[in-house]
Amino acid sequence: MQIGPHSLPNALFVAPMAGVTDRPFRQLCRRLGAGYAVSEMVTSRKELWNSLKTSRRADHSGEPGPIAVQIAGTDAGMLAEAAVHNVDRGAQIIDINMGCPAKKVCNKWAGSALMRNEALALEIVEAVLAVCAPRGVPVTLKMRTGWSLEERNALRLAKQFEAAGIAMLTIHGRTREQGYKGLAEYDTIAAVKAALAIPVVANGDIDSPEKARDVLAYTNADALMIGRAAQGRPWIFREVSHFLATGEHLPAPTVAEARDVLIEHLYDHYGLYGELSGMRSARKHIGWAVRGLPGGEDFRRHMNTLESSELQVQALREWFDEFGQTHDRLPPTTAANDDEAQADEACAA
Ligand SMILES: Cc1cc2nc3c(=O)[nH]c(=O)nc-3n(C[C@H](O)[C@H](O)[C@H](O)COP(=O)(O)O)c2cc1C
Repeated sequence: MQIGPHSLPNALFVAPMAGVTDRPFRQLCRRLGAGYAVSEMVTSRKELWNSLKTSRRADHSGEPGPIAVQIAGTDAGMLAEAAVHNVDRGAQIIDINMGCPAKKVCNKWAGSALMRNEALALEIVEAVLAVCAPRGVPVTLKMRTGWSLEERNALRLAKQFEAAGIAMLTIHGRTREQGYKGLAEYDTIAAVKAALAIPVVANGDIDSPEKARDVLAYTNADALMIGRAAQGRPWIFREVSHFLATGEHLPAPTVAEARDVLIEHLYDHYGLYGELSGMRSARKHIGWAVRGLPGGEDFRRHMNTLESSELQVQALREWFDEFGQTHDRLPPTTAANDDEAQADEACAA
């Protein structure tokens, strides 16, 4: 798998998720088998570039390359400036967000709303390419299948984006109107893949090795992207990789491994966000990690009352150790792809 000059170790990507795929989470997924990770989106609004949130989102220290930064906005000039700003700070690939369904991205209709204004969408792509191409930085783009069932224009746009010079296209198999509800469809992704020469990445509802195999076969996509199913379950990448390569299932992680992976992630997380906000934002990762496990919901509620990182880690260690007395390995979990509110909130930020 290749994006411009960058070779990737495999064709299994972790999806950009605002508020989730920060540098510690991306590194965790990469370590556990994801071949590529795009950062959470960075706004094109200059006045926010020095905010704590944006600078945390732009933290790539120690991250394996290629460093890919997603930008979002509605103004072609501002997006081009944002691209240059991020390339100057180490981005090796720029990804344009035309997939976020939230009403407010950058205080305006951005994200997937751009798919409804094809002229503006193309203007943005051309402006970003005009600054990235001379710097040798490939530009990729992530979009949905269209605005609504009646307005599924992904194929038409994809052809224009490819002709303009986009290096790779990711398609989430839902319309903007669907938000995160209903099921992703893969016909549009298959049609785009069949029509384009550049790599096409299939995304949406991939939550098991079997689903990954089926989506790959159905769409003939060059790569797969997994989002919500990796929350609390970052080993899904090695499980999918192994299954695609051998047709066999890897055993689930041992309880001890899951505990250690999670605790290591928490320390990395506190390191990026600091004690107070790190302790608070770690709660969602802990909640996802125990989701679906016996007693997990009670633990999640209890953990939300703890007010220091030390107490969090200690409680988590004890909980997993107790769980490990009756279970050698984690039971296979089902992903709960029901995070519409969370995604809307995160995208609006
Ligand atoms: C919490 C959350 C935040 C998201 N933030 C972004 C984002 O910043 N940029 C983007 O292109 N997509 C974003 N998405 C969409 C995901 O990248 C992905 O397309 C979507 O979740 C479908 O894939 P999945 O079914 O594997 O989760 C977000 C999704 C979630 C759940």
